[in-house]
Amino acid sequence: MIKINLEFTAKDAEKAVKRKDVIIVIDVLRCTSTIITALANGAKGVIPVKTVEEARKIHQQYPYTVLAGERKGIKPRGFYFGNSPLEFHPTEVDGKNIILTTTNGTKTLCNSKGAKFVFIGAFLNINAVTDTALKSAKRENCGLSLVLSGKQGKFSLEDYLCAGAMLERFTLHKIDASDAAFASLLTFQQVYDSLINSIFQGHHAQYLKSIGLEEDVRFCCKQNKYKLVPYLKGEIITPFKKVR
Ligand code: MLT
Repeated sequence: MIKINLEFTAKDAEKAVKRKDVIIVIDVLRCTSTIITALANGAKGVIPVKTVEEARKIHQQYPYTVLAGERKGIKPRGFYFGNSPLEFHPTEVDGKNIILTTTNGTKTLCNSKGAKFVFIGAFLNINAVTDTALKSAKRENCGLSLVLSGKQGKFSLEDYLCAGAMLERFTLHKIDASDAAFASLLTFQQVYDSLINSIFQGHHAQYLKSIGLEEDVRFCCKQNKYKLVPYLKGEIITPFKKVR
């Protein structure tokens, strides 16, 4: 039986790596939603980095890449893309390698390096990412950790609800969920009929709305829009495979 664990912040990713779990990183608003969308729309790869400075340095070394990301939700000076999934149109991203730095999401991804498999999940690809990660954990005979990116070291509602949605899918199989993981399922089921409204009550959704990015929140709440499962191998995120 596969053990499903839940970790709450970027730093906690290290615990999942130590346990040698397969990892799904979640940052619904907006990092992992953006990565899924960019790759689904034809980007070649996404390189997650922790800081704006590091992103600029890598871009200087590899000028054919493009810079993307945010600080306080806003695109840093000189960057080509911000962190809005709606910016990553097929015509804009096709064939591009994107260097991405965000406040919490890319930190969680970088802290997950070292795990055998690091998958990227959000509401946009719940079924595909859970099915793929579960298969990998079975094959590797190890546990599976959902690692929430949170907000500056703190709990975040939308990531927790997304974990709950993933748990609902996992429970179609024989799994052993930790109490924290199981509680996310109970919470998700409680707000199922008012999911977007509940997410809009969270701090980060309210912040994004206050800076004019309400549409991003709505887009990131769409469930199973994509079948694509991005995964991090070495330094770069590419599509793992499409679950049909
Ligand atoms: C993050 O990594 O903290 C987020 O993606 C922030 C955002 O751009 O909404």
